[in-house]
Amino acid sequence: MCGIVGYVGGQDAVPVILDGLKRLEYRGYDSAGVAVVNQGSLQRRRSAGKLDRLASSLAAEPLRGEWGLGHTRWATHGRPTEENAHPHQDCGGHIVVVHNGIIENHLELKERLVEEGHRFVTQTDTEVLAHLVESAYRGSLEEAAREALARVRGVYALVLLHRDEPQRLVAARMGPPLVIGVGESEHFIASDIPALLRHTRDFVFLEDGDVATVTPTALSVRNLEGVEVTRPPQRVTWDPVQAEKGGYRHFMLKEIHEQPRAARDTLLGRFSVEDGEVLLDELGPAAAGLREASRVMLLACGTSWHAGLVGKFLIEHLAGLPAEVDYGSEFRYRTPLVGPGTVAVAISQSGETADTLAAFREAKSRGALPIAICNVRGSMLTREAVGSLLTHAGPEIGVASTKAFTSQLVALALLALHLGRLRGTLSPDQCREHLVALARIPHLMEQALSRADEIEELTRSLTHATDFLYLGRGINYPIALEGALKLKEISYVHAEGYPAGEMKHGPIALIDDALPVVALCADDHVYEKMLSNIQEAKARGGRVIAVAPSGNGDLRGLLDGPGDAILEIPSCPALWSPFITVLPLQLLAYHVALRAGRDVDQPRNLAKSVTVE
Ligand code: F6R
Repeated sequence: MCGIVGYVGGQDAVPVILDGLKRLEYRGYDSAGVAVVNQGSLQRRRSAGKLDRLASSLAAEPLRGEWGLGHTRWATHGRPTEENAHPHQDCGGHIVVVHNGIIENHLELKERLVEEGHRFVTQTDTEVLAHLVESAYRGSLEEAAREALARVRGVYALVLLHRDEPQRLVAARMGPPLVIGVGESEHFIASDIPALLRHTRDFVFLEDGDVATVTPTALSVRNLEGVEVTRPPQRVTWDPVQAEKGGYRHFMLKEIHEQPRAARDTLLGRFSVEDGEVLLDELGPAAAGLREASRVMLLACGTSWHAGLVGKFLIEHLAGLPAEVDYGSEFRYRTPLVGPGTVAVAISQSGETADTLAAFREAKSRGALPIAICNVRGSMLTREAVGSLLTHAGPEIGVASTKAFTSQLVALALLALHLGRLRGTLSPDQCREHLVALARIPHLMEQALSRADEIEELTRSLTHATDFLYLGRGINYPIALEGALKLKEISYVHAEGYPAGEMKHGPIALIDDALPVVALCADDHVYEKMLSNIQEAKARGGRVIAVAPSGNGDLRGLLDGPGDAILEIPSCPALWSPFITVLPLQLLAYHVALRAGRDVDQPRNLAKSVTVE
C-alpha cells in the first residue's frame, strides 16, 4: 500500500525516484508524485492515475533534483486526484512530506492548525504532517519532525525534506515498513526492498518509533525521545533479477513458474534424511519452547490464512497437536484462549500485514511463544518473533500471492514434521519417509506446471462464466478456498470455495450449466467421496473441471459432457497434494483474468502489503 522512495547522493534524484516507484507499483496505488530540490528551489510534480502519467509529464517538462522524494498513493482520505497526491507541503512551500499510513487524529490537529493560521488545500490526513512540522520548525527538520510526531496518533512511514537543509532527508516509522538502502556516498529510502535492489543490497530496517536522518555520507537513527539507537545494516541476499519479469508477460506468471525453485530453496538445508530429522536451529530460543507446546495457534490473512488451514491439518495429523487457525483481523476482537503452552505461528509473505501483526502481538502478550513464517528477513514480524522460519520465495511482486503460498506450505510441513519428532508421534523412519516424499515435491511441481498450455486452452470456454464454485475435501479444502480467491482477486469474477461435503447444504442450489464447478481430487481417502460430489453436480446439469491425478479412468467416464475437463496432475502422497493441486488453479485464474483483459499484477483496489487495519 502506497510506495515511498527518497534519495540523497550524487545522482539526479528524479530518475532514481521514478525507477524506485515503478518497482513498487505492485503495492497498489492510484496517484503519484515527486518533490525535488535543485539549486535552492523546491519543486513538485504530481498526477492522478498510474506512474506513466507522471513520467510523461516529467518527460514533457523535465525536473532535476539534487535530492528528493516520491510517492505512489493508495487513497484512504480523499479521492485519488492530483491535488490529493503526495508529496504534500506546508504553507511556506519549504517542507514536503510523503506518508504511508493513517493519521487518526488529523481532524483535531487540523482544527488547531487552522486556528493558528495554516491553510489546507487537500482532503488528506497527510497534509497535517507538513503543517505540524512547519509549526514546530526552528532550524532542524529532525527535531521538528520529532516534536510534530509527539502530537500524532496513528500509523505512519514518512519521509520529509526541507528546502533549506541541503542533501538531507528525515524518515520516521510507526507501523508501515520503511528501509534505508546504504550506497557509496548515497542513501536511499523506500517502503520495500525491491525498489532499491538495483542500487544496493545493504539495508537498515527502521523499527517503530525510529526517526532517521540521512545525508549522502551519514545515517543516524534516534527514537522519538531523541536518544540514538543502533540499527546496523543487514545484507539482503535477494537477487535483483528475481524482481524483474525475466521474459514472462507478468510477474504473476513468472512467480507461478518459480514455485519449484522457491519450494526447493525453502526446503534446502533444513532436514537430514539419514537421521530422519528436521533441522530448525534457526528458530533459536523458540526451538526449546516447542517441546512444551500443547497447542498451536496459526494467525494470518488472505492467502497466508489458507496456508494456515493446510498447516493445521499437517500439525494435527503429523504431531498430534491441536491447532487452530484465525484471521489476524478477527483474533484480537474475540477472547482467544491463548497462554503459555500455546505456540503462536504468524504466517505472512510481507511480514508487514497490520492485522497479522496485531494478532501476533496479542498472542504474545497473552504468553504464547511467537514464531513467524515469513518471506522478508528483517520485516516487523520477524523482529517481533522469538524465532522465525524464513520462506525463500524471493521477492514476490505480483499482488496475488503464488510462490509465497507454496513456500509457506513447505515451512509448515517442516514445522509439523519437526513437532512430530519432538513429540514422538513420528519415528525417525516415519519422518524420513515423509521427508523423502517432500523432497520430490519440487520436481512434481515442475511436471504439473509443464501442462500450463492445456489450462490456457481450457479458459477459452470460460470467458462467459460469471461465477465459479471450487470444491475440495480434507487437506485440499483450503486449496479450494485459495483457488477461488485467486480467481476473484485478479479476474473480478465471483468464485466461492467450499468443502465438497457442504455442497448439498446450500450451494448445490446454484448449480446449472452456466456454473463451472472446479473439483479437487487427490490420491487420498476422500477420493471416492469427491467422485460422489462430482456426480451430484453432474446430475444437476453442472459443468465440472476436475483437478485429478493422472490415470483415473473412473473420473474420465464421469466427465464426458461438453464443458467438462480433467486437469491432470502428477500423483503424490495425499499429505503433500496441496503443493500440486494449487498450481492448475493459479494458472486457471491467471488465464481467465488475462482473457478478461485485467491488470493481472496489479488488480484494482488491492495492495500487496496491507499495512492498515
Ligand atoms: C492474495 C494475497 C493476500 C495476502 C494477504 C496477507 O493473493 O496475496 O490475500 O495473502 O494480504 O499478506 P501477507 O502474507 O503479506 O501477510
